[in-house]
Amino acid sequence: MNQAKHIAIIMDGNGRWAEIQGKKRVKGHEAGAKVVKEITTYCSNHQDIERLTLYAFSTENWKRPRLEVEFLMKLLESYLKNELPVYLENNVRFEPIGDIRAFSASLQKTIQEVKEKTAHCDGLVQSLALNYGAQDEILRAINKLKNCENDITEAMLSNALDCPHDVDLLIRTGGDHRLSNFLLWQSAYAELFFCDTLWPDFSISQLEKIIHEFTQVERRFGGLK
Ligand code: IPE
Ligand code: IPE
Ligand code: MG
Repeated sequence: MNQAKHIAIIMDGNGRWAEIQGKKRVKGHEAGAKVVKEITTYCSNHQDIERLTLYAFSTENWKRPRLEVEFLMKLLESYLKNELPVYLENNVRFEPIGDIRAFSASLQKTIQEVKEKTAHCDGLVQSLALNYGAQDEILRAINKLKNCENDITEAMLSNALDCPHDVDLLIRTGGDHRLSNFLLWQSAYAELFFCDTLWPDFSISQLEKIIHEFTQVERRFGGLK
């Protein structure tokens, strides 16, 4: 039976969730943040799950209206400040991925603080993908290695990525069937699950169902059964 050691989620559908209810898109992001908390706590109590990587803000999301981007930045900062005690209580280590240098000094400081204060936690690793794009991640990794004398190996490139861990199970909520520049290298052999549920409506029971289906899949990695 497969174990979903590393689960990655493209948390999509916040804006539509709000719009359907006649609310502003940002209300969807607020509701989505509550689900991040629930799913993280669930995963931290699940014995097989070691890593949970959540797509929170892509390198392409800067294209959105300024007010929405500003709201997302504020929401992220308050989320991290409020969640620090929860991370510690649940023994969750926070390891952000993405190029956070684009964020304000204050947000970068908060991200760094939560990372440092949870560095000793040895339960679930929760990675939020922040100003993350897989193409940007791969390019930054190549640039780190470009002066090395020998040919770059798969292991070297992998280790130079923000996230050097293969994904077992990748879930996208919100009904679209695309990766939107998320963990392209790490998902080479991930099992992909797409569900129509908008992220703020995504529940623990849906996650449990997907994990159960995942355990039944025959993963061959190019070999034969
Ligand atoms: C995902 O929800 C959250 C972020 C990209 C920050 P969206 O905001 O993309 O919601 P939809 O897809 O427009 O409904
Ligand atoms: C992907 O969702 C990014 C996050 C969930 C953070 P988007 O809503 O940005 O993706 P597209 O634009 O539909 O591909
Ligand atoms: Mg979207």
